[in-house]
Amino acid sequence: MSDNLKRAAAERAAELVTDGMRLGLGTGSTAAHFVAAIGERVRSGLKVVGVPTSEATRDQAQREGIPLSTLDETPDLDLTVDGADELDDDLRLIKGGGGALLREKIVASASQRMIVIADGSKHVSKLGRFPLPIEVAPFGLTATERAIVRLLDSLGMSGGELHLRHAPDGAAYVTDGGHFILDAHLGRIDKPNVLASTLNNIPGVVEHGLFLGLATGAILATADGLVELGQL
Ligand code: A5P
Repeated sequence: MSDNLKRAAAERAAELVTDGMRLGLGTGSTAAHFVAAIGERVRSGLKVVGVPTSEATRDQAQREGIPLSTLDETPDLDLTVDGADELDDDLRLIKGGGGALLREKIVASASQRMIVIADGSKHVSKLGRFPLPIEVAPFGLTATERAIVRLLDSLGMSGGELHLRHAPDGAAYVTDGGHFILDAHLGRIDKPNVLASTLNNIPGVVEHGLFLGLATGAILATADGLVELGQL
């Protein structure tokens, strides 16, 4: 069911793609449906170039035959389509459940438009039930972790647990950029802007999964049909 909803949102987003577009290609199970839909259209003659947000998406896009570029060769993108772990009415997002938040944020920031595709369960009234992924440098992990805990305390968010993310083999999960991820179980985030900017001030924090002011539109697939937010 959920997979059908993800595909429905992805296929609607694929309709927005036109010849000549420079596309940011997101990461995750919903974005994978979008990459598949674009692959199908490319094989029917659509002319686009894609910039993947992860090695996994690069592999999939290559298999689909989508012409690829890098952000260094193609630094201005027309549209990025990506999934999200949570989004609110103001199109603020939590991303990074799939571990690709750093490249996803860089690519989204280089795009004129970012459209989120998701099943309706990702739409929340307040962010924070989904643990916030915080990408950190392996060097000084414990010191960075302590600095994040101090920050959360100072923001009145004490009690939020930080869990080092692990890979299925039990080792620490390593991102495409060679970093670790701390998942912050916060429950609710009352002031996303304050948390976002102060997290970025901690040395050792590479990036976090709060995407604020980046998404320009969203396509949510629910059992009752597609819901669109913002501008498509
Ligand atoms: C990848 O790092 C994430 O930001 C994904 O976009 C997010 O986890 C959504 O993934 P799904 O589409 O698989 O739910």
